[in-house]
Amino acid sequence: MADNKAQLHIGDKTVELPVLTGTVGPDVIDVRGLTSTGRFTFDPGFMSTASCESKITYIDGDNGILLHRGYPIEQLAEKSDYLETCYLLLNGELPNADQKAKFVSNIKNHTMVHEQLKNFFNGFRRDAHPMAVMCGVVGALSAFYHDSLDINDPQHREISAIRLVAKMPTLAAMVYKYSLGQPMMYPRNDLDYAENFLHMMFNTPCEVKPISPVVAKAMDRIFVLHADHEQNASTSTVRLAGSSGANPFACIAAGIAALWGPAHGGANEAVLTMLDEIGDVSNIEKFVAKAKDKNDPFKLMGFGHRVYKNFDPRAKVMKQTCDEVLSELGINDPQLELAMKLEEIARNDPYFKERNLYPNVDFYSGIILKAIGIPTSMFTVIFALARTVGWISHWKEMLSGPYKIGRPRQLYTGYEKRDFVSVEKR
Ligand code: CMC
Repeated sequence: MADNKAQLHIGDKTVELPVLTGTVGPDVIDVRGLTSTGRFTFDPGFMSTASCESKITYIDGDNGILLHRGYPIEQLAEKSDYLETCYLLLNGELPNADQKAKFVSNIKNHTMVHEQLKNFFNGFRRDAHPMAVMCGVVGALSAFYHDSLDINDPQHREISAIRLVAKMPTLAAMVYKYSLGQPMMYPRNDLDYAENFLHMMFNTPCEVKPISPVVAKAMDRIFVLHADHEQNASTSTVRLAGSSGANPFACIAAGIAALWGPAHGGANEAVLTMLDEIGDVSNIEKFVAKAKDKNDPFKLMGFGHRVYKNFDPRAKVMKQTCDEVLSELGINDPQLELAMKLEEIARNDPYFKERNLYPNVDFYSGIILKAIGIPTSMFTVIFALARTVGWISHWKEMLSGPYKIGRPRQLYTGYEKRDFVSVEKR
């Protein structure tokens, strides 16, 4: 690398590639000029590729740092709340008191969904996975809100963002109520964001119980801790879908689909399923051995991260919240004891140490959600609810500057051209 240029030698040719410097973080080699050589880079899984420029979130995986618009996640989790964090992600700055009041009121004005959207649910089996229903109903929003679909109009983009953040708790709770066969609850705008979600989840028209402030606070913190995480698989999916000009509701539905997998947002559900499978502290060693066995596809769910090679800072806050919630609610959960023992054994195991595999955010969030009374199948829906603001902030950022349709190339290793063979000769 010479000055701020990198040199690449291909045969007898030398290509000079600019080196871009961010505010913090490693320099990035700009390979766009390579197209003039007729060659491409090869990077499956984007291990060495920055797919975009962004000002929203910064992660230093080696040191366990996560910043939203420069603010550390620990400070936001402790001193802020979810809607304030949403404002920060969407607008770049923390709101003043007046801006915050207007934003909260704006969100509250959009919490209801079109009445006809309810009919959509009837097309799903009651035992459908909640994420399957979420993909469908969030995508369906684009069939209802035609007045905010012009992606080239900043005002439309703004309204779509507000609508999505406002309606996700309503839709998530509707999905849950549908699975139970209970009446869906309307949102209540006298409650705050997390309280309202818990009200729609757990109350019924014939019995409205007050929401515990401890539980509401924990719920809000879970939302803050999941609000954004840079260019992960689902956010990159939202950007890719958005780069073709697709409408925001369709893009978020794509993000929900990408989040569902157990290597990503589906891990919080998978952690609890795994703890159930382990069953007892005496079985931990056996499962840890399975996780280390390269011939066995089993992995310890809730461990490891593509970017964090140190403790996930969200997991630290989540563990603290987990302790608070369990002691406030007086819950003595044997699954938590099992989780703590598993963490201890895995963290002292050379295999996990050498590979820097620490518990991630999903390891503890499942235990808190379970303590709150949220069923396992809803865990990833809650992740999707909270991450919607991150997805839509990235989508808005991309659309507000110059961008190109995302279109990766490939290393083709299939057949060369060959002639068609008729069926009787095959
Ligand atoms: N259990 C056992 N071994 C593991 C685990 C695990 N949970 N995670 C990684 N490894 C091993 C992996 O087999 C590999 O070993 P080797 O070098 O001998 O081949 C090494 O550690 C490096 O892992 P990798 O698979 O190359 O790492 P990656 O960056 O491709 O994958 C990951 C990251 C999160 C997909 C993976 O760690 C994993 O599947 N973890 C379990 C699922 C999980 O908890 N996901 C939630 C992630 S945090 C929330 C979110 O982003 O949605």
